Amino acid sequence: PESPVVLGIESSCDETGAGLVRDGVLLGQAVASSMDEHARYGGVVPEIAARAHVHAMAPVVREALDRAGLTLGQVGAVAVTTGPGLSGALQVGVAAAKSYAFSLGVPLYGVHHLAGHVAAAGLAGGPLPNPCVVLIVSGGHTSLLLVRDLARDPIVHLGDTLDDAAGECFDKTARILGLPYPGGPAVDRAARDGDPHAVRLPRPLTGPGDHPYAFSFSGLKTAAARWVEGHRAAGAEPRVADAAASLQEAIADTLTRKAVRACVDHGIGTLVVVGGVAANSRVRALTEQRCAAAGIALRVPPLPLCTDNGAMVAAIGDLLVRAGAAPAPLDVSIDPSAPL
Ligand code: KG4
Ligand code: ZN
Repeated sequence: PESPVVLGIESSCDETGAGLVRDGVLLGQAVASSMDEHARYGGVVPEIAARAHVHAMAPVVREALDRAGLTLGQVGAVAVTTGPGLSGALQVGVAAAKSYAFSLGVPLYGVHHLAGHVAAAGLAGGPLPNPCVVLIVSGGHTSLLLVRDLARDPIVHLGDTLDDAAGECFDKTARILGLPYPGGPAVDRAARDGDPHAVRLPRPLTGPGDHPYAFSFSGLKTAAARWVEGHRAAGAEPRVADAAASLQEAIADTLTRKAVRACVDHGIGTLVVVGGVAANSRVRALTEQRCAAAGIALRVPPLPLCTDNGAMVAAIGDLLVRAGAAPAPLDVSIDPSAPL
């Protein structure tokens, strides 16, 4: 028998996403973003995000169904992000998902946002191999994971950031450099005309005694700020492009070094890179280069699947359904600070 069409709903931050997946195949998806409404505050405002989800949720689900050429009645299971994320934002998605599941009489699955990011990589280029090492780099997370079987086994945590996430470092440094929000894409664009070796930035936690898979990014932001201040104190205008390129190089270098090392140390032949920062051009280029040199297969989903969306939630839901996982009860709660 055919597996059911899974409707995935994502609302943990500023993106309202709906996606439809069956048997590892993405049938359609739609995303609405409240990013523009947060821009003048320099970061996501939880109350604004929650209201925007209320506004966008049903139209986004409708649009995803239209794109897939499906009707709501053809949905056979619903998956929703229960955490981690902003609590008000998560509540909108979970309430919507319960309503769809209850009224359709289909099972509901509560999923972890990061498991969704990993599963998204399986929507392009075939299922993910088991096991694999996953580098998750987003605005809220920077982690190296060992995934044996996403639907059946707990994810093994190899290392994490001790302070800022890589995306946060991009965003905060962009602010210091006077670049627009969100900072990651702005740094990426500015870096095109910059010299990646113009500013000497550290490669945190890459010394012999350091944790091989832990990250630290708050020092990079501070070093960049000091460089900018130094220029201004000397009456010189800092070259933003050089700072952007140097920051991007330091982050990409650190991330890819540790990710490749994790694969080699654990004898694992595939690296998966997911999350918003996987959209970064230098992170992508350097991972490709280093994986090729180490004989490691690399999986980075196409850009639209790297950032928050409903397809990733549908993807993990589809894996859970096909693995025979137990559905969530209709009174399932959000878990804003869900651990891995
Ligand atoms: O996964 P995501 O969409 O949301 C979270 O779950 O956090 O990631 C958003 C993060 C932001 O910090 C954003 O600045 C960063 O990903 N980002 C980038 C790029 N595109 C998005 N960082 C660097 N270069 C990019 N091209
Ligand atoms: Zn995310």
